[in-house]
Amino acid sequence: MDKLLITGGTKLDGELRISGAKNSALIILTSSLLSNEPVTICNVPHLHDITTMIELLGCMGVEMVIDEKRNIEVHANTIKQFTAPYELVKTMRASFLVLGPMLAHYGQAEVSLPGGCAIGPRPVDQHLQGLTAMGADIYMEDGYVKASVKGRLKGAHILFDVKTVGGTEHIMMSATLAEGRTVMENCAREPEIVDLADCLISMGADIEGQGTDTIVVNGVEELKGCRHRVIPDRVETGTFLIAVAATGGHVKLKDAQPDHLEAVLLKLADAGAEISCGKDWIELDMKGRKPKAVSLVTSPYPAFPTDLQAQIMAMNCIAEGSATVTETVFENRFMHIHEMNRMGARIKLEANSTTAYVEGVELLKGAPVMANDLRASVSLVIAGLVAEGNTIVDRIYHIDRGYEQIEEKLQLLGANVKRIAA
Ligand code: EPU
Repeated sequence: MDKLLITGGTKLDGELRISGAKNSALIILTSSLLSNEPVTICNVPHLHDITTMIELLGCMGVEMVIDEKRNIEVHANTIKQFTAPYELVKTMRASFLVLGPMLAHYGQAEVSLPGGCAIGPRPVDQHLQGLTAMGADIYMEDGYVKASVKGRLKGAHILFDVKTVGGTEHIMMSATLAEGRTVMENCAREPEIVDLADCLISMGADIEGQGTDTIVVNGVEELKGCRHRVIPDRVETGTFLIAVAATGGHVKLKDAQPDHLEAVLLKLADAGAEISCGKDWIELDMKGRKPKAVSLVTSPYPAFPTDLQAQIMAMNCIAEGSATVTETVFENRFMHIHEMNRMGARIKLEANSTTAYVEGVELLKGAPVMANDLRASVSLVIAGLVAEGNTIVDRIYHIDRGYEQIEEKLQLLGANVKRIAA
């Protein structure tokens, strides 16, 4: 298992290009199952999770052509079986979202239930309630969701009990081929949902309200092929901005989308960063200063994202002053705290509390660390960058799931980071 060896203490400085969004690309790949014509997806990041999705579609018989620029052309009409096996769904929850598109297009699907997850239980009840309301016949057997529908799914009125990104995406995709109108309320508003809707509209879907909490889909009989470019990854963008701010450095990020990161940029400005933005770039300069600690509460978009909570905690560890960080989206997303405290951080978390109290210290101390979630793992890389001496981050296959060439990108900014093959 590869590890990252980080020697801390460098102020990061330089320019980087941001990759396509993992969480957009994954779901857009599943949406290609709605069409008989080829769907070409561009700006797909080279990540382990994307490989897993390609493997899943491949094992269902879907043919794909990937060119040298990693544009992926998906021919879903070659599908031979409508089953997504446990082995693939358990490694990546996004695989579960092949259920709705297969059901809407082919009237049948068998998809393994995803099971537990390091950051919380992450149920799929909202997905299943929505599909049932649209007329699907769903039952569980041997750990699989077995779903079928006679004829087409039917448009329905769906009110989500919780704001769910995956649930909103799943029902929106399924509704595109349903008979009649689906009105979805209390929808999540994340940019990846808007990106998916834009792709579906290019395929001929009739969707309105994406990016607001009410989405209306008028079902159509079929969807055609299209070519779609995935939006920039806002979590990768935020991760690099926070890493640079933590080290007191400077960076210009190109191919980024600043309007997707408003809450994050405001917090970084509070931390003392000078930030300027263009349409597709963001420049951050800490002018060699230490950041000030910033308090925050994670919530669905447009509020501060849970996917950047661990990273900003790493910054707060060495910031001036103290702050509170409250996680409201996932139940168990504080596993980095213990590892950061082993590096000399002062973070307190009461049992069963959703709020961590961070008191900034002068410097962290390098240590061997590890985590079993993507964002927690990358936060330990940031902690290593602001630590004295060497930090070895173990289990970096989590980081490879969601960050393209992390060590090369950090090296471009001057970081002393090496991948050690075990
Ligand atoms: N929830 C339910 N029932 C459901 C669905 C969700 O109770 O049927 C709850 C979850 O347990 C959670 C909350 O609703 O407490 C929000 O979950 P959501 O469904 O929004 O999350 P998701 O769609 O499973 C996506 C991202 C996550 C990101 C979250 C929140 C993808 C592939 N994943 O997950 O990304 O943290 O939205 O923004 O889009 C990551 O990239 O590291 C990552 C975990």
